[in-house]
Amino acid sequence: MNSIEVQDLNLWYGDFQALKSVSCAFAEKNITAIIGPSGCGKSTMLRVFNRMNDLIEGVRVSGRIVIEGRNILEPGTDLVWLRKNVGMVFQRPNPFPLSVYENIAFGEKIHSSGTGGKGRLDQVVEESLRSVLLWDELKDKLHKPALGLSLEQKQRLCIARLIAVKPQVLLMDEPCSTLDPQATARIEELMRELKREYSIVIVTHNMQQAARVSDDTGFMLLGELVEFTRTQEIFTAPKDKRTEEYITGRYG
Ligand SMILES: Nc1ncnc2c1ncn2[C@@H]1O[C@H](COP(=O)(O)OP(=O)(O)OP(=O)(O)O)[C@@H](O)[C@H]1O
Ligand SMILES: [Mg+2]
Repeated sequence: MNSIEVQDLNLWYGDFQALKSVSCAFAEKNITAIIGPSGCGKSTMLRVFNRMNDLIEGVRVSGRIVIEGRNILEPGTDLVWLRKNVGMVFQRPNPFPLSVYENIAFGEKIHSSGTGGKGRLDQVVEESLRSVLLWDELKDKLHKPALGLSLEQKQRLCIARLIAVKPQVLLMDEPCSTLDPQATARIEELMRELKREYSIVIVTHNMQQAARVSDDTGFMLLGELVEFTRTQEIFTAPKDKRTEEYITGRYG
């Protein structure tokens, strides 16, 4: 099964074409890495998966993106449904200026229309924090401000906030770029845990990271998806010369 199927996806910012006829399929409960040089369209592709590009003026998109059997590019798409199912974590962790508890309860309240009351909310907060291995650290600090946490804790909290609403897909745009190597290794470990239940797409500049954590890898260049295959294959036997040049550091 695939979590996301992309068919002939094109995207323009005004006159500039940032995605060029991209087609690929993301396997369910897999980690897929998107790599490529700065400006090649990695973040653009990730953002289009939950229609965050809608907010940018002058954006035009063509093609199909099928998630749960629906082409999410169709005008009638329920964006609340989409963003519940396809959550995004960013480069800089961005918790709300609220308590740890409220950060997780916030999205949950929106998506569950308040059913079940506080007991159930407490349970969701605990389960979500446990699944990102923050519960033991934070169980006595639930009502402290999230902005006071360490960078790594903030990033974990942002992941917990997504998990609270039980998405299908987690999109991560360079989620470790502000973290030190030890924290990065721990987040990678967490990703391996999470892929038992979620499909993950990670954008990374770091080829070692892609090689370490992902099952599949896509290499992008100038808006084109040059190669998309098993990670091991892309790093050991790339088919396209441009992929080979990039992974051996000879690009540019
Ligand atoms: N809002 C926008 N308006 C116009 N052009 C944009 C916009 N956002 C991105 N672009 C352009 O689209 C191209 C792809 O950008 P994108 O941010 O997707 O690349 P990226 O691969 O994520 O780069 P990086 O590795 O630096 O994060 C770039 O040429 C960029 O300048
Ligand atoms: Mg980017």
